[in-house]
Amino acid sequence: MRYGELAAAAMMCLAAAACGGRPSAGSPAAEAASAATVSAARDVHSYANPAEIRVRHVDLDWDVLFDRKVLRGTATLSLERPPGGRATRLVLDTRNLDIEKVESSRDGSTWANAAFSLAAPEKIFGSALTITLPEDSTRVRIAYATRPEASGLQWLDPPQTAGKKVPFLFTQSQAIHARSWIPLQDSPQVRITYRARVRTPKNLLAVMSANNDPQVARDGEYDFEMPQAIPSYLIALAVGDLSFAPVSARAGVWAERPVVEGAAREFADLEEMIRAAEELFGPYRWERYDVLVLPPSFPFGGMENPRLTFATPTVLAGDKSLVALVAHELAHSWAGNLVTNATWRDFWLNEGMTVYIERRILERVYGTRRAEMEAVLGLQDLRKEIAHLPEKDEILHIDLSGRDPDDGATDVPYEKGALLLRQLEETFGRQRFDRFLRGYFDHFAFQSITTDDFVRYLRANLLDPSPELASRIPVEEWVEKPGIPASAPRPHSDAFARVEAETARWLQGKIPASEVDAGAWSTQEWLHFLRALPVPLGSERMAELDRAYRLSASSNAEITNQWLLMAIASGYEAAYPRLGEFLTSMGRRKFLKPLYEALVKTPAGKERALAIYRKARPTYHPIAVATVDKIVGWGT
Ligand code: BES
Ligand code: ZN
Repeated sequence: MRYGELAAAAMMCLAAAACGGRPSAGSPAAEAASAATVSAARDVHSYANPAEIRVRHVDLDWDVLFDRKVLRGTATLSLERPPGGRATRLVLDTRNLDIEKVESSRDGSTWANAAFSLAAPEKIFGSALTITLPEDSTRVRIAYATRPEASGLQWLDPPQTAGKKVPFLFTQSQAIHARSWIPLQDSPQVRITYRARVRTPKNLLAVMSANNDPQVARDGEYDFEMPQAIPSYLIALAVGDLSFAPVSARAGVWAERPVVEGAAREFADLEEMIRAAEELFGPYRWERYDVLVLPPSFPFGGMENPRLTFATPTVLAGDKSLVALVAHELAHSWAGNLVTNATWRDFWLNEGMTVYIERRILERVYGTRRAEMEAVLGLQDLRKEIAHLPEKDEILHIDLSGRDPDDGATDVPYEKGALLLRQLEETFGRQRFDRFLRGYFDHFAFQSITTDDFVRYLRANLLDPSPELASRIPVEEWVEKPGIPASAPRPHSDAFARVEAETARWLQGKIPASEVDAGAWSTQEWLHFLRALPVPLGSERMAELDRAYRLSASSNAEITNQWLLMAIASGYEAAYPRLGEFLTSMGRRKFLKPLYEALVKTPAGKERALAIYRKARPTYHPIAVATVDKIVGWGT
């Protein structure tokens, strides 16, 4: 929301905890909000009160204390009140922070102590920090320290890194973990610019989701500036023995030294991907695009931190076969980072749009065949997930009140969201739909929007002008109802049809596994093959496949994950050493979750899971630990 538009809505409550909900319909505030391009939304995952006082900019100053696993320093927030606003109460989100001192200032040069109170911690949302300020104060400075268990930080000891000699720190702020390392208005509808000064041990290097200078002198003191307004979940920091390898003039790779050259080869097509996206959806607006390859405990595949995507090393297959992940994070430079979900119930706007763009990038760079295979695999994931989800979680515009926003990160926002956009493309034609999307990114650039904002814009700019075509799109059903609409697009892959034919020949005993025509199969074809096999396949057939294709020794993480799932279901003992190795060598939640879930289905498997987890748990990220604890019943 632009600040001007906030004027009339000044009295509106944004935070549930602060004042309990939306203004009643028909009130002046509600009318003013609905007339605006972008309406204010209630964020049930934040205690903050941005309608009364809004944080516009943050100056950060930290010491990175590896010996204590603590980040200590100050956050100085620049404040803005709506015209005529006199609010004296600023509510911030925090979790597990030790607040040492709070000061306020009118001019940024003289500071006075400010009274504050920290609410009792709530498990998911943390503690509201309420600060009392003079009504003309424009800045507040908070001296604080994080705790070693901060959910948004992972402190790695040297053995957990590639180089094994020095420690590593990285952050993960999405969805609501920024508050565990910075006191702020941790809601995606509050956009801020930031500056940071970071002091580290002299031999380490810090990077952030900001301007990173590939030539920076490694001296233990690093300055950053992010001049573009971003939501708090995109603030990111990493510190370690990092080096840089360029891919093009504006793109490159950061990683620990032993990893960086291989990563640059894997991501050699970055510049081509950026150009493909620019041709489709308008200029890349963030200057540099670099990828930071993290140590293996990074709990996600990728995270779209602006200017600096964070990525798992499990994407480094050696043959570029898993780079869809980078296309995905790059696509967020438009969907998500430029036009952002206003609340976590609008998460599908970020992810569905991103998956759609990801596949358009793949198509341009690697061809239709590859893009369609990814689309079919995506739809398979969605169908499989929906089979187990409660109906309320199959809704794009999901109600997440009282829940952890990460609960909403299923295949539904990703793949169902992407299918809706694909239906729009197929119905209106590429030319019109691309023009629409380009206009959408220009119109909402650097703003945070709700599902309603999107639907309103869609109606006005694509649907209403062509009622006949529009009648084929059940928008309301897509957005507000469970399941997949009957008219949904059906991605199809001829390559996969051939894989299925080969699979049948083997399963029917017409040929041995070694004669399956798999010589030229891509990773995607292998995945389709493995997924299409019956479960359980039985140890005999597993062994036959393994002999022919050495699947237990695959170094491709996606294939390994699929293979190990089958091994667990089939009781194929020969793959168990690889299972133990895989689960103790990386902490990517996408792989940990299904594998541990499969294991705990039998008593013997559960024992095995616990034996592995006992060893692995100290190496996993807090976010992954929370997930696996639940699956194996840790501590119960
Ligand atoms: N933004 C997400 C990661 C995320 C989502 C972190 C929700 C925290 C909460 C990122 O863009 C993403 O979707 N990553 C995927 C990979 C992608 C190729 C689907 C992942 O990590 O698996
Ligand atoms: Zn994403």
